[in-house]
Amino acid sequence: MRKELEKLVAIDREIGLLGHIGALLGWDQETYMPQAAGAERAEQLELVESLVHERFTRPELGELLSALGSTHENPGGDDRLSPDEKAYLRAFRRDYERRTKLPADLVAEIAKQTSLGQQAWAKARQANDFTAFAPHLERIVELMRREASCLSSGGNPYDALLDLYEPGATESSLTKIFSSLKAELGGILASIRSRPPLDAPFLSRECPKERQKAINDWLIGILPYDTERGRLDTVAHPFTTTLGSDDVRITTRYIEKLFVSGIFSTIHEAGHAMYELGIAPPPGFARTRLSEAASMGIHESQSRMWENVIGRSPSFWKRNYARLAELAGSTLEGVGLDLFIKGINKVESSLIRTEADEVTYGLHVILRFELESELISGRLAVRDLPSAWNDKMRSLLGIEPPDDASGCLQDVHWSAGLFGYFPSYALGNLYAAQFWDAMREDIPGLEKRIEEGELGLPLAWLREKIHAPGAAFTPGELIERVTGSALEARHFTDYLRAKYSTIYGF
Ligand code: CO
Repeated sequence: MRKELEKLVAIDREIGLLGHIGALLGWDQETYMPQAAGAERAEQLELVESLVHERFTRPELGELLSALGSTHENPGGDDRLSPDEKAYLRAFRRDYERRTKLPADLVAEIAKQTSLGQQAWAKARQANDFTAFAPHLERIVELMRREASCLSSGGNPYDALLDLYEPGATESSLTKIFSSLKAELGGILASIRSRPPLDAPFLSRECPKERQKAINDWLIGILPYDTERGRLDTVAHPFTTTLGSDDVRITTRYIEKLFVSGIFSTIHEAGHAMYELGIAPPPGFARTRLSEAASMGIHESQSRMWENVIGRSPSFWKRNYARLAELAGSTLEGVGLDLFIKGINKVESSLIRTEADEVTYGLHVILRFELESELISGRLAVRDLPSAWNDKMRSLLGIEPPDDASGCLQDVHWSAGLFGYFPSYALGNLYAAQFWDAMREDIPGLEKRIEEGELGLPLAWLREKIHAPGAAFTPGELIERVTGSALEARHFTDYLRAKYSTIYGF
């Protein structure tokens, strides 16, 4: 390895270590930190972030990159470098440019306004008062436009924001794929609505937290998630966090009158964790930028595949249901496997994405995608957001929020400056279905083998094809390599039709 590259890798490893230290502070904050410790914890996290920023903005980095021939037009550097080295430089340059293209005063202003914005949002939601939040959102949208214009020279500002989370995604490419998805989901939803609704009252039966803990401890024992390299804890909003290359932790939550929520959160987060644990960078690049995920959408494909494609399938539960019913005690009394499968796949329009079923989930995401692209381009004024939101809820999901608190104020994303992030939730489903079809071609009798408990089999396939390369490929390159074609919505909609026509009998 060239001397300049070795230096770059050494600095990158320090950045990685600092990132993991920050993640540990964040994990503790969400799990076990005493309430009063918040103020100093915020300072600790800020210090770690400033140390990362200091390393990223050292003039030395720019010199090392140009000595290796890496430029904006040719990020992979000069031709004497190996393919692994080029992939590394490309990934490094991408993050380096993001860090260095934004002026320090803009970064500080975004941090300040999103912090104020989140506080204002929490109050406004509680008081159901959109007008109190509107001026904050106007400022944040304006800052997002400025950020976008620094990141891209010209072009559509929303594209620059999408690219932060899904490299290569653009408003026009997503509009194309989401418009066919929207039409198909609408059709599937209409077919489901033409059938009698599913009655599964067990879903809201009480299940005490201790019982749920026993269920979820058993569950992570069945999943091929390596608990010697991770652990499960409980929080208010479940997440997965990487504290080291051999330490990827997951969290879940126990809602007493919705015990399946915890089960599927656990499987979902385990899917994220197995991805992180499976990344295997080439020699010389361990614990660098190549140990990161290809994109948020690819990350979400791993969690959604385990949660839905595997975790809500009859093949998974045929083997495991008896034990679940035993652990759940009175909560699942009198509920057979068939009813359980139907219940966990029940389709019903709801006001919020987080508990949505597999069919309506994508519609929630499309709503956000359409509205945020209109906000960023200025086609929609912030003051008109509540009515635009309600119109879309009516046309896409057939329901209307009773108030703004459960409508456009429902979650934190926009107040936190997360514009461009939402589409990755729907892309995850699409990638997962397309990967799944490729896996089924490679592994004969896949469902049968899952039924026999061989969960290591899909994991080994995912590891080799998707996890191991980490950030070496863009999501577009990865899906082409693994499935032989670009991302298409039909794999997902075919999967949904097959699944729900069986469940609902249409
Ligand atoms: Co997720």
